Amino acid sequence: MENFAFYNPTRVYFGKDETGRVGKECAQYGKKVLLTYGGGSIKKNGLYERVLTFLKSENMEVFELSGIQPNPRISSVREGIDICKKEGIDIILAVGGGSVLDASKIMAAGARYNGDPWDFFTKKAAPTPGFPLGTILTLAATGSEMNHNAVITNEETEEKWAVVNPAIFPTFSILDPVNTFSVPPDQTVNGICDIMAHLFEQYFHNTPESPLQDRMNEAVMTTIIEYTPRVLHKGEDYDARAVIMWAGTLALNHLLESGVKDDWSTHNIQHELSAIYDISHGAGLAIIFPQWMKYVMDIIPHKFARFGNQVWNLSHDGRTEREAAQAAIDRTKSWFKEIGAPVSLQEVGIGPERLDEMAEKAVSRGPLGSVKPLYKEDVLKILQMCL
Ligand code: NZQ
Ligand code: ZN
Repeated sequence: MENFAFYNPTRVYFGKDETGRVGKECAQYGKKVLLTYGGGSIKKNGLYERVLTFLKSENMEVFELSGIQPNPRISSVREGIDICKKEGIDIILAVGGGSVLDASKIMAAGARYNGDPWDFFTKKAAPTPGFPLGTILTLAATGSEMNHNAVITNEETEEKWAVVNPAIFPTFSILDPVNTFSVPPDQTVNGICDIMAHLFEQYFHNTPESPLQDRMNEAVMTTIIEYTPRVLHKGEDYDARAVIMWAGTLALNHLLESGVKDDWSTHNIQHELSAIYDISHGAGLAIIFPQWMKYVMDIIPHKFARFGNQVWNLSHDGRTEREAAQAAIDRTKSWFKEIGAPVSLQEVGIGPERLDEMAEKAVSRGPLGSVKPLYKEDVLKILQMCL
């Protein structure tokens, strides 16, 4: 097992009707709240009205920033920071999926910084903690509700970069599965692909002995595989939505990677796709992951064979370790297909034109991953395999 430090200060309120506590929670931090949200899903499903009622019942003064897009832009972050500074905002309340949460994390950091928030991404400046941020999660996917990551696109430079810093944990997050009932099937699938990808990034590693991490990870993976058909069959299945929601949080609150060498190269390659083509994060991961698996399989064939057995219930009988590993990867790809995710770039309308540029950008800050360090030629080969 590797050495590690684990720290997670986010207070989580999970379950039906927990949304009702948002007014009182926010009021602890002051009177002025900046409500941030996306393109309007919360207006359609009634959550917006309910949140306003809860905030007003505590006499909160509500300011708003709407229109935060999927693959959130640094320009939205700048807008939010301007409101925080101009109006003397006491707390930001982010209501939405990972994009709204990530943008709001950087707004909270930027509200106390006298420079441009992109500086946090280029490492010109580090975020400082302390600006209160509450979240109401509406889509199970990123784990942003209980982690210290934020991924933002700089639309001018076509860069999609992450900040990973303990200063940006949300102060509290409300996870009410009912708020995910209205997520349409395609977004539900994107979210599930993302959750599985987070688990893969932390499961496939070179750490020799990690039985506890491996078994916890396999438990989350098998649970997702079991419950995915239920959420896709009936969006209002409370227990199924609850299982997927909590699985999403556990998949990336950094508990599962504690003690192992996680990889994350597939995520980094995916961010290049989204930065240029603006495709959904989960869809990009479903396309790249099986190809990354094939590319690195021979370094840890035993792990892929175990994955086939423990997660996909595949028998090793009559198979070499390598054949068992290959079967596990084939099963992963066919599962992505079964649930409706794309598994090739062609399916999302991306051709070979800019693969070289994406490979170059992906490694601009050094080789990716830990199972096998990936250089530009490796990333390019993986992207070509995705065509
Ligand atoms: O904008 P609205 O109208 O709210 O619609 C959103 C959006 O169109 C919709 N949606 C969300 N909740 C809904 C709903 N529609 C109906 N009912 C609801 N209850 O779903 C669409 C996608 O939303 P988005 O927030 O973009 O999705 P997701 O949560 O998957 O977030 C993706 C972003 O997070 C980043 C990704 O790169 C991407 O930019 N990530 C963040 C991470 C983190 N902070 O730890 C890690 C991840 O690996 C990932 O990189
Ligand atoms: Zn992800």
